[in-house]
Amino acid sequence: MKKLIAGNWKMNGSLESNAALVQALLSHSADWKCDVALCVPAPYLSQLQNLSKASPLMFGAQDVSMHEAGAFTGEISAGMLKDFECRYVIVGHSERRQFHLESDALVANKAQKALASGITPIVCVGETLQEREAGLTEEVVKRQLAAVIHLNGHCISEIVLAYEPVWAIGTGKTATPEQAQHVHAVLRAQLHAASAHADRVHIVYGGSMNAANASQLLAQPDIDGGLVGGASLKAADFLSIIAAAH
Ligand code: 13P
Repeated sequence: MKKLIAGNWKMNGSLESNAALVQALLSHSADWKCDVALCVPAPYLSQLQNLSKASPLMFGAQDVSMHEAGAFTGEISAGMLKDFECRYVIVGHSERRQFHLESDALVANKAQKALASGITPIVCVGETLQEREAGLTEEVVKRQLAAVIHLNGHCISEIVLAYEPVWAIGTGKTATPEQAQHVHAVLRAQLHAASAHADRVHIVYGGSMNAANASQLLAQPDIDGGLVGGASLKAADFLSIIAAAH
């Protein structure tokens, strides 16, 4: 399957710096052998809609409400994201689970709302360092995915799944290709048990992916791409990761 390299800008960017970054990326888009997407802060969706027109670049948001409309100040619905032609939305990123106390059930609801609007949710799962050291890695990621399967079983093959070990995010500590592959295989097996189409689900890795380690990670049989934070903010670094995905 064609790999997917998605950037997660998190809360970074400005109109000016976004334009420069996207233009630098697009000047190499003829060489891309993989799918490329950028998940940007919501106020910049319209800018990305314009910048990516008639290009292979896809874009998405970083969160979506579990509600469709109504008195939910500050929330953004899947329908609104669709208005801006979002292709993807990240749900259940560990930063939202940690700082906004998002539960497995809430994340599953958000994935459901995205799917209902025709937006592909990039569902993030991953264990903390404490959980890994306690030998709970498989249990944690399986529990997180099970909630999403429970609510979205019939269309689970429409999601993108991101394995992001929390201890590897923004720390410079990457999971080894073997550690990541092991968890990806566990997740693949869980998807297989839920769907006849599990083979077509992209399971991407995130956590300090960079130009130096991307090739080895992406060479693993169950690593179908990357969800890239810090390195997606620098054109040269992100382009190197894209080049490693073929
Ligand atoms: P870093 O690549 O900065 O570690 O972030 C990974 C991430 O959280 C992507 O969603």
